[in-house]
Amino acid sequence: MNHILTGKQLADRKLMEELFKTAQEFENRDKKGEVLDVFKGKIVATLFFEPSTRTRLSFEAAVLKLGGQVLSTENAAGASTAIKGETIEDIARIVSGYADMIVIRHPEAGSVERAASTSQSPVINAGDGTHEHPTQALLDVYTMQKELGGLDGKTVVFIGDHRNGRTLHSMLPMLVLFKVKIILVSPEELRLPDEYKEMLTGANVPFEEVVELESVLGEADVLYVARIMKERFSSPEEYERLKDSYLTNKDTLSKMKSTAVVMAALPRVGEIDPNIDSDPRAAYFREAKNGLYVRMALLVYALQK
Ligand code: CP
Repeated sequence: MNHILTGKQLADRKLMEELFKTAQEFENRDKKGEVLDVFKGKIVATLFFEPSTRTRLSFEAAVLKLGGQVLSTENAAGASTAIKGETIEDIARIVSGYADMIVIRHPEAGSVERAASTSQSPVINAGDGTHEHPTQALLDVYTMQKELGGLDGKTVVFIGDHRNGRTLHSMLPMLVLFKVKIILVSPEELRLPDEYKEMLTGANVPFEEVVELESVLGEADVLYVARIMKERFSSPEEYERLKDSYLTNKDTLSKMKSTAVVMAALPRVGEIDPNIDSDPRAAYFREAKNGLYVRMALLVYALQK
């Protein structure tokens, strides 16, 4: 069964190049107004136990553009039998009898893997707690390559909450396949967990951790801005203390290369000033659009294998 559960599964340069080529082809065909039938007769269920704008709707748009149909629960936590105590394993087993593929977002780390263990159809992880968000990570690497023309020799600066940043956790196994330098900017309390730092060390990828952004801005080819994730804090006081740690604004961009890009998985909640949206280096809306085509490519990959 071709489940897509972790970034590690997609961390293969040949596979990534194939998926990126397919994504670009889907974009070209979409822009020509072509109607596709790759998913004709197929049903994809989206089970979202946490809120989402981009991931759920881009997956659903991707299915529809491929000629398939969608069964959707935008509030699975409140409107599915999870509220009665049904397990994710049982829900996945049942839904896989109705759908050819299931896309799941859930607040618990490891929950999507548990769903996959009973599902009779491929399961795609659309974010499991603070653990992983592999499809966002893949579309981010696609966007970096598309914006910069390639990743080898580039410096990627991540700023924000790396303790809880599931997209970063999925993206690192992909980035270590390139000759990149990684700089992690965060408050001390929100540093990257050790297991991911060990992965970087094991792959001989140069990386550093700093608290201050300013001194590394000039090096960045990508400034990847992650919000401080309120929903992941057990202490409201800690969140209030850390939430305004960084702001990316016109002053930030004035210290960056003219060829650099600013990316973000979004949503933004104050860490990116909307006044920079019109700067050509602000790539986050292009990134969100790329998600549609990368997810079309991933759906086809998961169905075909
Ligand atoms: N980037 C991302 O996962 O956005 P949503 O929460 O809107 O899906």
